[in-house]
Amino acid sequence: MAVELGTRDEFAVLTLNRPEALNALSFKIIEDIGRAIDEVAKSKARALIITGAGTKAFCAGADIKELRNRDLSAQKRGAELGQAVFSKLDTLSVASVAVINGYAFGGGLELALASTFRLATKNAKVGLPEIKLGLIPGYGGTQRLPRVVGEARALEMIMTGRTVTAEEAERIGLVNRIVDGDPVEAGMAFAREFTGFSLPVLGFARSAVKRALDVPVPEGLKIEADLSTLAFQTKDAAEGTAAFEEKRRASFVDG
Ligand code: CAA
Repeated sequence: MAVELGTRDEFAVLTLNRPEALNALSFKIIEDIGRAIDEVAKSKARALIITGAGTKAFCAGADIKELRNRDLSAQKRGAELGQAVFSKLDTLSVASVAVINGYAFGGGLELALASTFRLATKNAKVGLPEIKLGLIPGYGGTQRLPRVVGEARALEMIMTGRTVTAEEAERIGLVNRIVDGDPVEAGMAFAREFTGFSLPVLGFARSAVKRALDVPVPEGLKIEADLSTLAFQTKDAAEGTAAFEEKRRASFVDG
């Protein structure tokens, strides 16, 4: 199967498995990613790790061969499908970690940008090269990249289509960290830095940050006040603050 969804310990692991085409995204693969995300939403996973099969690529983007034969309405439907599936990932109840283990171009980088966090192996190379094909990004890249790296850097990447190394990606904040070793293990180790905390409270934190990006600061502060009040009402807030006072480790129940 070109999209494999498995479980490793407390994590769901989604692997793009089409290494002969550098894990390029056909429509079918995008639909399968959407179904896999629905499965993760129903599961007990505490985070989702996403990576690509093989040693060369995370994902080389939309399947260019498939793109070529489309009429305009099929192109629009394709963009809307990719956007909808990646938005579902962006708003998934648990955090996602894309481990970019090689090339992440076009739709591949857009998949990583829709993930909560991005890690890169040393050999990773990323970019939005659509301009070289006479295209522009269509799966959220023009919207999410500037929110991550700022307008000028995003426009430079989109308008030149140039390739960014793992070191540069880390320097400009496009990836959180450069990692060594097995990509899934690296993703799990990163996720374990937060998955021991209360899942609903982690959700409130993500929601406060995400929603605030789309509204003026005064509106964002209202969102923060509401969500921090919701967090305050959880059993986990009572436990966390009690554990502090009692000088012991908190034992959260996700409630
Ligand atoms: N679509 C379809 N097939 C692809 C592909 C893609 N995006 N990327 C690579 N492949 C296929 C190649 O055609 C090749 O298959 P064949 O052996 O059958 O010819 C196989 O994967 C291996 O690729 P290369 O021989 O090209 O490998 P390389 O190591 O020489 O180069 C690469 C690697 C630099 C990533 C190069 O493959 C490349 O430039 N790929 C295209 C990257 C790209 O432009 N992505 C953007 C796509 S458009 C998009 O994503 C729009 C959007 O916003 C959603």
